[in-house]
Amino acid sequence: MTSLILDVARIKKVLKELGVDITGYKDDFVARRVRARMLALKVGSLEHYLDILKRNREELRRLLDNLSINVSEFFRNPWAWTRFRTALRSYIERKKLSVLRIWSAGCSHGEEPYTIAIILLELMEETGRRFLARVYATDVDQDALRNASRGVYALQSLRNVPPRLLSKWFVKLSPTTYMVKSEVRSLVRFRRHSLITDPPLMFMDAVVCRNVLIYFSRNVQRLVLRKIHRALNPRGILFLGASEYIPENMSDLFRTVDARARIYEKV
Ligand SMILES: C[S@@+](CC[C@H](N)C(=O)[O-])C[C@H]1O[C@@H](n2cnc3c(N)ncnc32)[C@H](O)[C@@H]1O
Repeated sequence: MTSLILDVARIKKVLKELGVDITGYKDDFVARRVRARMLALKVGSLEHYLDILKRNREELRRLLDNLSINVSEFFRNPWAWTRFRTALRSYIERKKLSVLRIWSAGCSHGEEPYTIAIILLELMEETGRRFLARVYATDVDQDALRNASRGVYALQSLRNVPPRLLSKWFVKLSPTTYMVKSEVRSLVRFRRHSLITDPPLMFMDAVVCRNVLIYFSRNVQRLVLRKIHRALNPRGILFLGASEYIPENMSDLFRTVDARARIYEKV
């Protein structure tokens, strides 16, 4: 079974029909994950597995979990968020803006855009400056967006939220669930958008696109990075995930601000 050659184009086509677009995902990554699900179900042929996928919503959810497509949490890699906050603060001080626009691209269940909104509210308080802030949160996954706009989270995704911020910006609904307060939610606008097939959002001061590019093939990564470059205002900030980076041949588009934290600036 581990050596089974899979027709990845066919898998991608069926997933697309089921509303999940993984067109630009790396083939070997998709094949590994599908093989693992087939093994778990003791299914010997791809046709049989795709049949199950079409009929069984639960298996579709399992496969998506396995592709770890929606995994997220608040302040994912907390030290990198501290660096992002510093970069954002100097950008705000330098530009003296009255409006600030940030795009959370591939926002999953909303943990990332709400993290950004909390940082913005904290920065306004800290600097004594008021600006109109908006976080545009986009994803291809409608179900994830529906969950995101509810703003309700289990403790597990809140483990990196400092206790001071947890009591300030969340309402406790039960011992294990919290809801993001309306002040935070009012800064965030959710909408469906594909980084691969849709044109970019524009006039952004920062783009946070973390743990999305890793799933894409090199060509698609380059295509998406070029779109992000167009989306950004001059010297706008790009914040990538821990294992993502700007390829050397694109260094004319982005200057490194903090290599370890994966923070870049539009050239
Ligand atoms: C692993 S999650 C990352 C969530 C969050 N950015 C983080 O770092 O915690 C990857 C997200 O990218 C989204 N995604 C995948 N392909 C996409 C595409 N073509 N356009 C927009 N979002 C996409 C998935 O639906 C998923 O919600």
